[in-house]
Amino acid sequence: MNDVLIIGAGGVGHVVAHKCAMVPEVFGRITLASRTLSKCEAVAHGVKQRTGRTIEVAQVDADDPAQTAALIRRSGARLLINVALPYQDLALMDACLEAGCDYLDTANYEPRDVAKFEYSWQWAYQERFAKAGLSALLGSGFDPGVTNVFTAWALKHHFDEIHTLDIIDVNGGNHGKAFATNFNPEINIREVTAPCRHFEDGRFVETPPMSLHQPFTCPDGVGTYEIYRMYHEELESLAKHIPTLRRAQFWMSFSPNYLKHLEVLGNVGMTRIDPVLYNGVEIIPLQFLKAVLPDPGDLGKSTKGRTCIGNVITGVRDGRPKALYIHNICDHEACFAEVGSQAISYTTGVPAMIGAKQMLEGTWRKPGVWNMEQHDPDPFMADLNAHGLPWSVTELTPQQAEGLQVV
Ligand SMILES: NC(=O)c1ccc[n+]([C@@H]2O[C@H](COP(=O)([O-])OP(=O)(O)OC[C@H]3O[C@@H](n4cnc5c(N)ncnc54)[C@H](OP(=O)(O)O)[C@@H]3O)[C@@H](O)[C@H]2O)c1
Repeated sequence: MNDVLIIGAGGVGHVVAHKCAMVPEVFGRITLASRTLSKCEAVAHGVKQRTGRTIEVAQVDADDPAQTAALIRRSGARLLINVALPYQDLALMDACLEAGCDYLDTANYEPRDVAKFEYSWQWAYQERFAKAGLSALLGSGFDPGVTNVFTAWALKHHFDEIHTLDIIDVNGGNHGKAFATNFNPEINIREVTAPCRHFEDGRFVETPPMSLHQPFTCPDGVGTYEIYRMYHEELESLAKHIPTLRRAQFWMSFSPNYLKHLEVLGNVGMTRIDPVLYNGVEIIPLQFLKAVLPDPGDLGKSTKGRTCIGNVITGVRDGRPKALYIHNICDHEACFAEVGSQAISYTTGVPAMIGAKQMLEGTWRKPGVWNMEQHDPDPFMADLNAHGLPWSVTELTPQQAEGLQVV
């Protein structure tokens, strides 16, 4: 049977559990495990109410491979879906190797004490997974995830060579709070305060955080937002796997209000990740900040508006220049109506379910450790349309592509 173990009962885990339960022809017994059992029980209750399916729940410390391996065996899972935090990636991959289980995640490994993420640690598992006949799929969220598949699909069907790639992630939603992050605040703030890196002429170039920005008008009336160039992990794997790439950049929208709060929090030391002594106890300011900020998983009730995430791609086809924009628009309120979550959790959780589906059905299951763009994009692209994240393609002129003008 296609039994699965989902680790992490946060905003994304909530969506993954619901979406897996909605595809009973593929997903057999579903076990949801996390550090806090009551969060798993709350998700299981929601799944039962919305889908009629019963899912199992368990408590686990995902930092302990032996504990997770025992749970994998008990649950009978043949695939572990990791939607805990990037800190747990390696411990969970170890657990999968120990218990003989496939692995999938949505974010690459990050050590706790350095705000740095890269694939090298997980790519180093390639031989062990291949030898064990097990398969690992890295980065099966939206970005990374769908953005990698959009690129692979464009290369397969529309280009002989891809030369430039701009991934543009706009959240046109408003949650009505003074300040909140759309996914785990600790991981989100570590990501956006890091130096920017983009790929150009065969190497990564570092620039100060948020130093390059421009307005971007989304299609379909989603609106015009200021987008900021920043580093994102899919740039690393795409630069490696698409050798014709000359430039790859990632952009994300931020409101002036978000940036103002972040600047103040940084200035007063609340985004620090080194321990400070408080009343004789060591605390990490950023972890404390997470405890007082709104839980991203609870933002669904109040969030209105839409997300618009897509790729502007240029290159050549039959010797002629060509440019495309491939994107998805997702409505926060529609996501809440369907599964009780806002669109950021939804746009991450749905691709995690779809990646898991490819692995269980065998279309994307080969021994070793793989990034999304290394698999055939077609079945994944079809499933995006079928499971809540429909996409569109627009032809652009090379000039429009260079200016990131998609409407
Ligand atoms: N690729 C993409 O497009 C994308 C987009 C957004 C997010 N993500 C990734 O998705 C993942 C989940 O994000 P989220 O917003 O759902 O985060 P979240 O709401 O903070 O949820 C994380 C969950 O993991 C659990 N957890 C943490 N450490 C654990 C441990 N040692 N053992 C067991 N469980 C543990 C937490 O337990 P507690 O409830 O007890 O704290 C929580 O339930 C993150 O890795 C994030 O980077 C990817």
